[in-house]
Amino acid sequence: MSQPADLSTSFCGLVFDSPFILAASPCTDDLEMVRRAFQAGWAGAVLKTTSVEETTVDLAYPMIVGLEHEGRRVFGLGNIDLISQHHVDEIEERVRALKEEFPQKVVVTSMMAATKEDWIGVARRLSAAGADIIECSFSCPQGTLGAKPGFMLGQDPGLVREVTAWVKEGAGSTPVVIKITPQVADIVEVAQAARDGGADGICASNTIPALMGLDLETFVPYPQVAGKSTYSGLSGPAIKPITLRVIAEISRSVQISITGTGGAADWRDAAEFMLVGARTVQFCTAPMHYGFRIIEDLKDGLERYLRHKGMRSAEELVGKSLPFITGHGDLSREKKVISRIRSELCVKDDLCYLACRDGGHQAIELDENRLPQMDEEKCVGCGLCLAVCPVPGCLYMEEVLATDNGKSG
Ligand SMILES: Cc1cc2nc3c(=O)[nH]c(=O)nc-3n(C[C@H](O)[C@H](O)[C@H](O)COP(=O)(O)O)c2cc1C
Repeated sequence: MSQPADLSTSFCGLVFDSPFILAASPCTDDLEMVRRAFQAGWAGAVLKTTSVEETTVDLAYPMIVGLEHEGRRVFGLGNIDLISQHHVDEIEERVRALKEEFPQKVVVTSMMAATKEDWIGVARRLSAAGADIIECSFSCPQGTLGAKPGFMLGQDPGLVREVTAWVKEGAGSTPVVIKITPQVADIVEVAQAARDGGADGICASNTIPALMGLDLETFVPYPQVAGKSTYSGLSGPAIKPITLRVIAEISRSVQISITGTGGAADWRDAAEFMLVGARTVQFCTAPMHYGFRIIEDLKDGLERYLRHKGMRSAEELVGKSLPFITGHGDLSREKKVISRIRSELCVKDDLCYLACRDGGHQAIELDENRLPQMDEEKCVGCGLCLAVCPVPGCLYMEEVLATDNGKSG
C-alpha cells in the first residue's frame, strides 16, 4: 500500500487541510452549523455574506426551487435568497469563536456594502475580528446593495477595480477575494480588474441568473411567492461546465489564485476544477442536498485518485489541463476521426441511427438484426452518436488519416 497522498493545498498564502470548503450559503449562516461542518472535516467555510447593521435584508419565501432532469431531483437549484440577515457585529463574534475553537480551519467571511465607507469599514472590522480571508460578493443575482435592481458589481470592470481597492484599504493584511459572476461578455477583463484593484484571489463563479420554469396551468414561474416570481440564481450540477470555462479562461490569462465554485457535486468535479486552475473548491448545493457528511467521500475519493495517478499532493493537479486548451483555429485538422461500434454492447434502441439520420450525416444504417452499421465514407466523426448512446463504450471514436476516410481502419 503506497503512502497516502497529501490533500492539503494553499490559497492566498493560507494552508487548507484539503481543497474542500463550504461556500457562502445557508450551510454557513449559523454558528452551530459551521462548527458541525468543521467537526465533520471541511477545511474551511465562507460565512454567508454579511453587511452593516443598518442594512435591511427582507427575504421572500419560498426561496428555493429544484431543477429536475431525467430523474435527477437536484440537477440544479434556483434560489431567490439574499445576503445573510446576520449583520457584521454578529459575524465578528462568530469569527472570533470559530478561530478560537478551530485554529487550523480557514474562516472566510463574505461581505457586501452600499457605500465606499461601508466597504472599507466592514472589511476593517472583519479583518480585526480575525477573518482569514475576506470574500466580496460582487455577484448576487438579486443585485448589489445600493445598486439598481439586479445589477451586479461584477458586471462593470471599472467598478470592480475601484471597489476592490476600497476593500483592500479596509482589509489591511487580510487577503481579499472577489466573487465574480459568469454573466459577462469578457470574464478575463473582470478578473484583471479585480487584480488591478489589488485582489489576492478570485472566487469563480457565483450562481447564474435564470428563470426556473413555469406552471403551465397558472402561467406563474417558479418559485411562486403569492402568485408572482422573479429571476433565480441557478446553482448545482447544471452550471458546472460554465464554471469550468470561467476558471480556465481566467487561469490562462490572469496571474491570480482561484477558488472554484458553481456545480461541484463530488470529488471528480473538484479535481476538474483544480485541473483548470482552482486551488480550493467551494460547495453549496451538494451539502444542502446530502449534508456535511459528503466531505468523507470527497476526501477519500480525491486521495485515491491522486494515488492512482501517482501524484503525491493535491497541488499537483492545479492547472494540469490548461496546456490542452487552445483556440478553435489551432485545433488539428490533420487527423480524422470516425465512429465505430462494438455490436455486442448494442441495446438496439436506434438512438444513434435516429440522431445521425436527422441531426448528423446519415452515416448509420440498421441491418436486418437492427444493429447499426457505419458508412465510413459518410461519417465525419462529429460525435453525436456517442453523445446519445446510453451504453458507455458501445460506440467509440477511431483516428484515421484525414485523406483515408477510414479505409485503413
Ligand atoms: C440558497 C443559496 C444562498 C446563497 N447565498 C449566498 C451568499 O449569501 N453569498 C454568496 O456569495 N453566495 C451565495 N450563494 C452562492 C453559493 O455560495 C455558490 O457560489 C453557488 O451556489 C454555486 O455553488 P454550488 O453549485 O456548489 O451550489 C448562495 C447559494 C444558494 C443556493
